[in-house]
This record gives sequence, structure tokens and C-alpha cells, in this order.
Amino acid sequence: MSRTYNIAVIPGDGTGPEVVAEGMRVLTAASRRFGFQLKLDNFDFGGERYLQTGATISAEEIDTLRGYHAIYLGAIGHPDVKAGILEKGILLRLRFELDQYVNLRPVKLYPGVDCPLKDKGPDDIDFVVVRENTEGLYAGAGGVLKKGTADEVAVQESINTRKGVERCIRFAFEYCRKRNKGRKLTLCGKTNVLTFAFDLWERTFHEVAKEYPDIKVDYAHVDAITMWFVKNPEWFDVIVTDNMFGDIITDLGAMIQGGMGIAAGGNINPKGVSMFEPIGGSAPKYKGQNIINPLAAICAGGMMLEHLGEDAAGRAIERAAMEVTGKHLKSLAAGKMGYSTTDVGDLVVKYVSEMA
Ligand code: IPM
Ligand code: MN
Repeated sequence: MSRTYNIAVIPGDGTGPEVVAEGMRVLTAASRRFGFQLKLDNFDFGGERYLQTGATISAEEIDTLRGYHAIYLGAIGHPDVKAGILEKGILLRLRFELDQYVNLRPVKLYPGVDCPLKDKGPDDIDFVVVRENTEGLYAGAGGVLKKGTADEVAVQESINTRKGVERCIRFAFEYCRKRNKGRKLTLCGKTNVLTFAFDLWERTFHEVAKEYPDIKVDYAHVDAITMWFVKNPEWFDVIVTDNMFGDIITDLGAMIQGGMGIAAGGNINPKGVSMFEPIGGSAPKYKGQNIINPLAAICAGGMMLEHLGEDAAGRAIERAAMEVTGKHLKSLAAGKMGYSTTDVGDLVVKYVSEMA
């Protein structure tokens, strides 16, 4: 019986549509090569629609998305829309309402990719960050008083629930076991200062750890981890952290794996609808020039297939991307690849279609 997956595609803003177009070609090639069907439905959420209609995303539209096997997202963010409206109104809304409580971000240096770290290669940079994705400073708790006056007060609180923290940590232990690489899980926090929130994280981490005696546990403060990412990235296997710290350290992670052109991520609800995206944003200055690197979006598509249970197809996409970085691209940066966006798509399609 043939396997069919219904995918909601949100190309979004800036270069999102261009990279998603290549991603869809690669996904389609993978579906042919590995014998499953993909039904790709397009949704126009994003800055253009917001500017025309004032709509971000409605409750009905979110309900429609619940009916899909997964969501494939390009980028959300538009230079003519005030910062925060689209991010909170679309991207974070989807993460929260679909309860995608883990943001999974692999940091892996592919062959042939220039690494900004001296003397570090693909053997040294291969870890995964499990970022909590529905709580913390992103929960929107707090408020403002006397706005615009000399007495203005702004409070932004970090919300950490036992349930939210525990399910994220549990996911990280399971993921670490399944990955079976270093079998080491590092909690990244700030237990020396944020003694309420990270006390909860630390206690929960060690309690859950008892159920995973096969996994080594480790701890690093968030400031120190940025140092270790640069100095000793080979120490890390899987890292679990809160929403804000995860946001920050994964941008650094993206840089040591060669930049935003390659960094992919998944917003995961293990029992619901998950959403896969390149983490780099909409890069509006490169829009419409056919110069943006589509590999991050393509690799996000690979992660989506693995999540759907099409492991062989997902791995094939990653291997194809590695062939392209290893044998072709001069750089991962927009305009410097030596190839256009569509050329890179062509190459990945070719390798996926030929994959043994
Ligand atoms: C990311 C982005 C988002 C975040 C923004 C666009 C809201 O930076 O996916 O990391 O902060 O989570
Ligand atoms: Mn970010």
C-alpha cells in the first residue's frame, strides 16, 4: 500500500518562497525515489497577506493545519511590518497553538563547508540542540506600566512549568538514546543566577536522568556554553535548554556549521502536527535574485521526512546535501555559492534521485 502524506506548505516572506520551492522539488524527488506520495497544499500566511488584509492567522486556519501530517515553512518576517506582529502572530502562534514543545536544531558541519573555527572539522561539530519551544520568556507573561513616561516599568517573565520542562527534558533523553552517538545529554542553564527557573530545570533533569542510566549527564551555564561551542564543540552530543537560551545558542550553532544557509530545524509535537523550517529568517535583501542558499530549507524537508517515518528518504536528502557542499559549493553564503538557488536545487534533486 502506498504511503501518502499531506503537507501544509507556508512559503511565507522574503526568500522563503524561493527556498521552499527548491525544498518541494527535492521532497518530490525523494518521494519518487523512495516510493511514497506527497500532497503539498499551499497557504499564503505572511507579511504580504498581512499588509493587504490585516490578517495574521485565524483560529480556523490553525484548525485546518491540524489536519495535516506536517507543516513545511519558509520564513516569516517582512521589512514593512513592525517587528513582532508576524513573528508573534504567525510563527510563535503556530508553535504554541499546535503545542510544538520542542525546537530541534541539529548543528552539523558538512564536508567541504568552511568552518570559522580554526582546526575544527566535520568530526568535531555534530550535535543537536533540543530547545523548549512553548514557554520561558516567549510565553508573553508580563506587562508595561506608565508607558512612554520617565516612570515606565516593563516586566517580561519567564514561565517554566514542571510539565513543560519535564516533557522537553524527556524528549531530549529519548532523542539522545535514539541518536546513539555520544549518549551524552548536556543541560544548558543559568543555575547560579536564575535560581527559580533553573532549579526546576536542574531537579527535573536529574530526576528524569534516573530513568536513563545509559545516558551520561552534563551541565553548562549558558554563557560558558557559548565559549565551549567555539573552543570545544566536539564535547557536545545533545543539549537541552529553555526557549530563550535555545534561541541564542542555536544562532551561534548555525554559524559554526557554516551559517544560516545550512541551518535547519523542526518544531516538534510528537503527538500532533510538527513544523519544519530553515532557521535563518526571510533575508529580504536577497529576495527574488535566485542567489539565496536553499540547503537549510532542503535539509528541513529531510528532517520532516524522517519525522514522518520516511527515514531512508530523510537520510538521502541529508547525504545529497553533503554531496553538494562537499563537491560543488564554493561557499554557503547567498550570492557566493558559485551556483544559483535553483542550480543547488537541481544538484540535490539529482543526487537524491540517484541515491542507492
Ligand atoms: C527562531 C527565530 C524566532 C524565535 C523569531 C523569528 C520569533 O529567531 O526561530 O529562532 O525567536 O524563535
Ligand atoms: Mn532565533
